[in-house]
Amino acid sequence: MKKAKQKIAVLTCYDYVTAKLLSSQDIDILLVGDSVGTVKLGFESTIPVTVDNMVYHTKAVKRGNSGAFLIADMPFASYELNAEEAVKNASKLIKEGGAEAVKLEGGIEILDKVSAILAAKIPVVGHLGLTPQGVNKFGGYKVQAKDKTAQKKLLKDAKALQKAGVSMIVLEAVPEALAKQAAKALNIPIIGIGAGKYCDGQVLVIDDMLGMFEDFTPKFVKKYADLAAIIKDAAKDYIKEVKSGKFPAEENTYK
Ligand code: KIV
Repeated sequence: MKKAKQKIAVLTCYDYVTAKLLSSQDIDILLVGDSVGTVKLGFESTIPVTVDNMVYHTKAVKRGNSGAFLIADMPFASYELNAEEAVKNASKLIKEGGAEAVKLEGGIEILDKVSAILAAKIPVVGHLGLTPQGVNKFGGYKVQAKDKTAQKKLLKDAKALQKAGVSMIVLEAVPEALAKQAAKALNIPIIGIGAGKYCDGQVLVIDDMLGMFEDFTPKFVKKYADLAAIIKDAAKDYIKEVKSGKFPAEENTYK
């Protein structure tokens, strides 16, 4: 798709119903992100998410997916310790979860784990820029690579990941000009989230773009619907009708 200059559309997904709906619209890639921790499980960050959480949600998405490439995130502390642990956990996401690739956050510092997973015949996706598992190191969710040194390092990381054999790289919350440079310098697709329009594709968290998640909305999110309002209105009507006796009506009743 990159060679053909076709933009790649990616959304996160965590359950069967949504996977069915999104893949019916020919989404290119579904990412079972560890953002499941914040938008579905109510954690403050992605750090508490476990491999078992990821396998559970990947299985559900797999059952609803009909044609999108399926990527699962490797959660915090599931690949950092050593290459053996990284391969074991990546294999679980592929073998039990049914993912077709795994995504890891980091660059040169995790290259040995990336190479070991690739050697185990598992496709790998990189993630650079704002890597949410590093929130405690960054001191918050902030735009990354704003100065020249950090930009040089990010490009070096991206090239090293490409050389190791990763299939694509997610670039999160970085200046547009840097993402443009990365997309130009690399042969593999750069999938942006808060990285501007020059990336080879875009990814958004499904709950953000549907207007479901109200706790926090980053600047880079575009809301394509206001499902929070729709759900609240529907719940309000239901509660009213139950309390007034209007629901269930004749047509909802077995005789
Ligand atoms: O976990 C996630 O949803 C992600 C996206 C932000 C790319 O990694």
